[in-house]
Amino acid sequence: MKSILKKVGLLVLVVLVIMQFIRPDRNEAGYESVAYFEIETKPTPEIQAILKSNCYDCHSNQTIYPWYANIAPVSYWLSHHIDEGKEHFNVSEWEQYSDKKKDHKLDELIEEVEEGEMPLDSYTWTHGNLEDDEKEILINWVQNLRKKYKPN
Ligand code: HEC
Repeated sequence: MKSILKKVGLLVLVVLVIMQFIRPDRNEAGYESVAYFEIETKPTPEIQAILKSNCYDCHSNQTIYPWYANIAPVSYWLSHHIDEGKEHFNVSEWEQYSDKKKDHKLDELIEEVEEGEMPLDSYTWTHGNLEDDEKEILINWVQNLRKKYKPN
């Protein structure tokens, strides 16, 4: 029995070691990738900071990776969240969104933040969550911003 456990343990270890060599692509295009979005939407420095430290990691082409993001399988899991987040809403592709899509995404944003769905729970465990006043500031800004894209 003991020797089976030893073998299984060794196998798990070997698999874990091999996994470290399979590295998902990094999402690090640089902050230039959010420039178009910020020039068009003109966030105040405060809003900019809120977005940068709570949302851009999964909703832009620039992620700030924590140290544990280098460790498989955590790296696979983070990469999956980033891909999925960007697929739904990516400020680095703002230029390609139609006004209708922009308005719709902003509408979704208000809903997600109001309901506490965003940032994802798995992210807030390690990064902390938005404070209530930050939520309010963000939502007010987005509500105002939507006027820009709403059809007359
Ligand atoms: C850890 C990654 C992560 C972080 C951080 C994050 N999101 Fe998301 N976001 C996702 C994923 C994954 C989805 C798609 C699945 C879902 O809706 O739960 C999503 C969906 C969304 C959507 C919905 C888009 C649509 O079309 O339905 C909006 C809007 C959004 N996020 C806004 C935000 C905002 C604003 C923040 C910061 C306050 C934020 N997210 C932080 C991963 C993240």
